[in-house]
Amino acid sequence: MTELNKISLKILSGGKGILAADESTGTMTKRLQSVKVPSNEENRLQFRKTLFSSESMKDCIGGVILYDETIKQKTGTKTIPELIDESGTVTGIKVDTGAKTLAGSPDEKITEGLDGLRERLKEYYKLGARFTKWRGVYAISDKFPSKLSIHSNSHALARYAALVQESGMVPIVEPEVLMDGNHSANVCFEKTSDVIKKCFDELILHKIDLTGLILKPNMILDGVNANNKIRNDEVADLTLKCLQESVPQEVPGIAFLSGGQSEIEATENLNLINKKNNTKFIMTYSYGRALQKSALKFWSKDIKDIKGTQKIFDHRANMCSLAAQGKWSKELENQD
Ligand code: G3H
Repeated sequence: MTELNKISLKILSGGKGILAADESTGTMTKRLQSVKVPSNEENRLQFRKTLFSSESMKDCIGGVILYDETIKQKTGTKTIPELIDESGTVTGIKVDTGAKTLAGSPDEKITEGLDGLRERLKEYYKLGARFTKWRGVYAISDKFPSKLSIHSNSHALARYAALVQESGMVPIVEPEVLMDGNHSANVCFEKTSDVIKKCFDELILHKIDLTGLILKPNMILDGVNANNKIRNDEVADLTLKCLQESVPQEVPGIAFLSGGQSEIEATENLNLINKKNNTKFIMTYSYGRALQKSALKFWSKDIKDIKGTQKIFDHRANMCSLAAQGKWSKELENQD
């Protein structure tokens, strides 16, 4: 077993998943504004450190993805990676610098951040990071994602992953096909399969150790504005079929993004995926909104109520962990 494979399994095994707390300052400002809390460095830290010191971190959260601001922050004398490490959780860091207009197909995006990445990775390693994240993003329409966008984002993801493994860290490779639009789940299946297959072609070309990588895909869903929605068990079937056909067997695990699903939807879908999982991949969560939404709402009412906020977060994390083992139910969700 390689060191990178060990780190991947430490993050994903035993019903654990990932807390994606890597919102850029711009995105975090939108999240805080939505609950009427001023977005400043102190408030951003206050909310995040409340989550990172919660009880459920030990059993449910194998890894936390941070943003550049947070990995450099302190709470008292402790750095944030030191606080995270106290729960036996691995620190991760988002290293892309965001999705920008793709020259040649200006309605699509290309994720940037490769320039100077090797040096930034060295710094993050010293700060305690052992895994990283890079998100490529694809919108669906009759002509998108274009070949150009699939090719350029896959290439960037592979170059990123190669540099991350060279620096001794595990890359999360996130090719996200967005839920926006009125497309059917079958269209999402086709486009997601294409995007993931091309991504692995590039990863293999760049000699990535597939046993030391985590894939972070979207689930196969109808577009958010589609008239007819498939059932949750069909979401599970299509998602499993897509991943079984598109992901090489060496990959140890898959950690889904929630992508705008509600907390319950994201939990229920993950639960069914695990109940039906006929693959050898670990299937777990790397949720941002679907782990934080209720906790953020509660916290915004009284940002000093740390215990109350942690109780809400712990419940969500426990539900996600049960779903990662196919053991979640509506009864458990609603128990006090
Ligand atoms: O890159 C996306 C985030 O890490 C996951 O966020 O679960 O809210 O989609 P989400």
